[in-house]
Amino acid sequence: MHPMVNIAVRAARTAGDTVVRGLERLDRIQVESKGRYDFVCDVDRQAEAAIVQTLQRAYPDHAILAEESGSHGEHGSDYTWIIDPLDGTANFLRGLPHIGVSIALQRGGQLEAAVVYDPIRQELFTASRGDGAQLDGRRIRVAQRRGLEGAMIGTGFPFKKERLMPPYLRMFTAMTEHAEDMRRAGSAALDLAYVAAGRLDGYFELGLRPWDVAGGTLLVREAGGIVTDIEGEDRALQTGHIVAGSPKVHSGLLNTIRPHVQAVPAQA
Ligand code: IPD
Ligand code: CA
Ligand code: CA
Repeated sequence: MHPMVNIAVRAARTAGDTVVRGLERLDRIQVESKGRYDFVCDVDRQAEAAIVQTLQRAYPDHAILAEESGSHGEHGSDYTWIIDPLDGTANFLRGLPHIGVSIALQRGGQLEAAVVYDPIRQELFTASRGDGAQLDGRRIRVAQRRGLEGAMIGTGFPFKKERLMPPYLRMFTAMTEHAEDMRRAGSAALDLAYVAAGRLDGYFELGLRPWDVAGGTLLVREAGGIVTDIEGEDRALQTGHIVAGSPKVHSGLLNTIRPHVQAVPAQA
């Protein structure tokens, strides 16, 4: 395994242990609101602190962009770690067992390494650019479906950004006319890892942040899939609108979404 992936795995496992311990004392979790239906709890912060500490010890010169604590470290650095310590906080707070820890490394704007860890099932998804994607050390690939027919598509509802809901619902309705069925499991990072592993044929969501999608984006690409924004550009980390899948499913998703793209407000 690439040494930087190794460090990220150690950080993700430590954070995952914190999350699992938190699940055992949900009644004592301290929760604060960050915005509309957007919550942060002490476990998000503790898990993130553990990741930041591990990465900073190993790579003191690298920059960090972390969901809860923002930017750390060298602003001029070529390397930036992008961290979501607990993806699926709404699930976690209810004891719904579908959550992920996501850590990705960008160098000069290009994704180089990714770890998405499911601390409940203890499944570890890893990738480094050019070396493929793995689940628990075994090579994974996107599903080989020929298009949307018979496809199981993962998604997320833009429940934190109500202006995105009307165009999203049009896309969702169009999707139900073409795909077999849809899943809204509640962790974009883990759902993208499932696309990489062929458990879902594709994924789309609007209004995400870079830490939700950075790790999963590299996993899907290294598993042979395509990830873009809703215009088909390599800008999902910037726009927050993501479309992912095997090449044929990805083009089926884009064709289905495209008629509704004009309705997506520029600022959500
Ligand atoms: C959320 C999850 C969810 C997605 C939300 C994200 P968080 O991340 O990825 O699936 O629908 O929009 O914000 O807040 O639990 O880290
Ligand atoms: Ca997230
Ligand atoms: Ca989070």
